[in-house]
Amino acid sequence: MESGSEEPDEQLLLLSEPALHAGPPAGRAAPGGAVRLRGEPGLEEEEEGEEDSGPEGDGEEEPLLRASGRGRRAGAARDKEPRVGAGHTGHAIDMNTFLDDPEFAEIITRAEQAIECGVLPERISQGSSGSYFVKDFKGKTIGVFKPKSEEPYGHLNPKWTKYFHKICCPCCFGRGCLVPNQGYLSEAGAYLVDDKLGLGVVPKTKVVWLVSETFNYSAIDRAKSRGKKYALEKVPKVAKKFNRIGLPPKVGSFQLFVEGYKEADYWLRKFETDPLPENTRKEFQSQFERLVILDYVIRNTDRGNDNWLVRYEKQDDGLNLSDKDIQWTVTEESTIKIAAIDNGLAFPFKHPDEWRAYPFHWAWLSQAQVPFSQETRDLVLPRISDMNFVQDLCEDLHELFKTDKGFDKATFENQMSVMRGQILNLTQALKDGKSPIQLVQMPRVIVERSSTGSQGRIVHLSNAFTQTFHSRKPFFSSW
Ligand SMILES: Nc1ncnc2c1ncn2[C@@H]1O[C@H](COP(=O)(O)OP(=O)(O)OP(=O)(O)O)[C@@H](O)[C@H]1O
Ligand SMILES: [Mg+2]
Repeated sequence: MESGSEEPDEQLLLLSEPALHAGPPAGRAAPGGAVRLRGEPGLEEEEEGEEDSGPEGDGEEEPLLRASGRGRRAGAARDKEPRVGAGHTGHAIDMNTFLDDPEFAEIITRAEQAIECGVLPERISQGSSGSYFVKDFKGKTIGVFKPKSEEPYGHLNPKWTKYFHKICCPCCFGRGCLVPNQGYLSEAGAYLVDDKLGLGVVPKTKVVWLVSETFNYSAIDRAKSRGKKYALEKVPKVAKKFNRIGLPPKVGSFQLFVEGYKEADYWLRKFETDPLPENTRKEFQSQFERLVILDYVIRNTDRGNDNWLVRYEKQDDGLNLSDKDIQWTVTEESTIKIAAIDNGLAFPFKHPDEWRAYPFHWAWLSQAQVPFSQETRDLVLPRISDMNFVQDLCEDLHELFKTDKGFDKATFENQMSVMRGQILNLTQALKDGKSPIQLVQMPRVIVERSSTGSQGRIVHLSNAFTQTFHSRKPFFSSW
């Protein structure tokens, strides 16, 4: 698609005005988020006079969690809601209710039980933020938890140089195109997009509340918790009235841990010297294309080759296999699989000013020079060229993003304008049989909603959207 010269795809642009209503319909959980069940017996005891700083403690406010599928009003009577179970550890069990995903709910319950039993999350040593491997009671890693307050620019980031950087040098900190301190939503949002597009490359990621001694807490929160425990021992009658005894739960993204994977860098190097068999190569190419689509749609600004993983099990060459084994080899699930992890720096509210700072690193790989396969086009095109699909996607992201206390509708609209622009380019690229490298060379575009569009009506481009084409040179213009 040339800048402004060609009429962009009708289908996509015939977006009706999204109805970004204040709350989800009754019974609908925030996509990728937890809902809270209110009115559980025995949990309504909001004590009088206790000054609590909320689940995150230390000035952190609890995001607005929606009412459950019991038809309660979102946000209403919020102050009356139980904030956490009153267990000694202040566990967050009542805040993690995944009505639509019992499997995930079960995993989170296992994580909570393990923490109760003293099998505590372990900080991942590498990285610039507080990220934790969460275990089950046997000590097996089951997830990666990234608390909001310990993100690179979160106020409790254990690797505090970044936070210091933000305070001392606010003009040049972070990525100017991203909403600061909402990395956990970007992680969950990436999974939401992956799931809706049917890509299957992002391990399931949702917003979860967890509490653990091993998380980074302020001295105040730790002192408060100690004081309450002491009070409980000395004056149990009074202490019973406390809202919470233990440390405050933290909100963050929880991504399922995938096993048997290594960083892409490792395998890419191997494949150079030891090329993949043709079938596996095709499978890898297909997985790679899905990664490209994910990154492009969410405009990931942090996709180095260390932020995606590959699992590859080399198959026997078949020479010594019996017929039965060959049968098994053929019908077995694919031997190569990509996992797109670390999606916390995506969903910019404007295109990065300086693209060179945040390129898609996969664009330099040989795989990026191959046109998108028919399989990928068949998977993605019917979805993204359907305006209702795109609108649904924006609404689901709205349900997720609005739970953050720093949510700003105008900023969110800008994020969606960038994403719709990316989707517009992608639609055109897939229709034209382009390759990933050609995709990233397309001029950047944003697709804005019209302020005059009316709700629920299909409106034509001319009065529904404004397209802005950036005058800068496209990405990778030297290719
Ligand atoms: N879902 C997952 N399954 C398996 N391993 C994972 C998963 N998520 C992360 N890891 C492992 O943990 C490491 C750190 O994860 P990640 O990059 O997401 O954390 P981070 O704190 O954002 O780090 P950085 O700032 O260095 O990017 C990864 O390199 C990977 O080895
Ligand atoms: Mg990383």
